[in-house]
Amino acid sequence: MSLLTIMPSGKTIEAAEGQTLLELILAAGESIPHKCDGNAKCGSCHIFVQSGRKSLSKISPLENEKLDSIVGVSSKSRLACQTRIAGAEDISVELLGFASGF
Ligand code: FES
Repeated sequence: MSLLTIMPSGKTIEAAEGQTLLELILAAGESIPHKCDGNAKCGSCHIFVQSGRKSLSKISPLENEKLDSIVGVSSKSRLACQTRIAGAEDISVELLGFASGF
């Protein structure tokens, strides 16, 4: 079990292995676009991971392909719907204040 902090609100939620960041962010009551319902097709759930990278699943080829097509990606970028909790280190993510996907 790790703790997920969601910026900029600073809300925290307990995160169990196997859960996606999208599920957790929604469960915390935050709004995050997810136009393709978690299928790595829209890119609207693009977020930045600020810390705790080691507690997250690796980027799949599918996620990587979608990230490549998004404007404003950085080395911190992940698709929340494709990123699963995979460790016990606390995690901090930043929701982006703009729709970066399509
Ligand atoms: S919800 Fe569409 S890529 Fe994540």
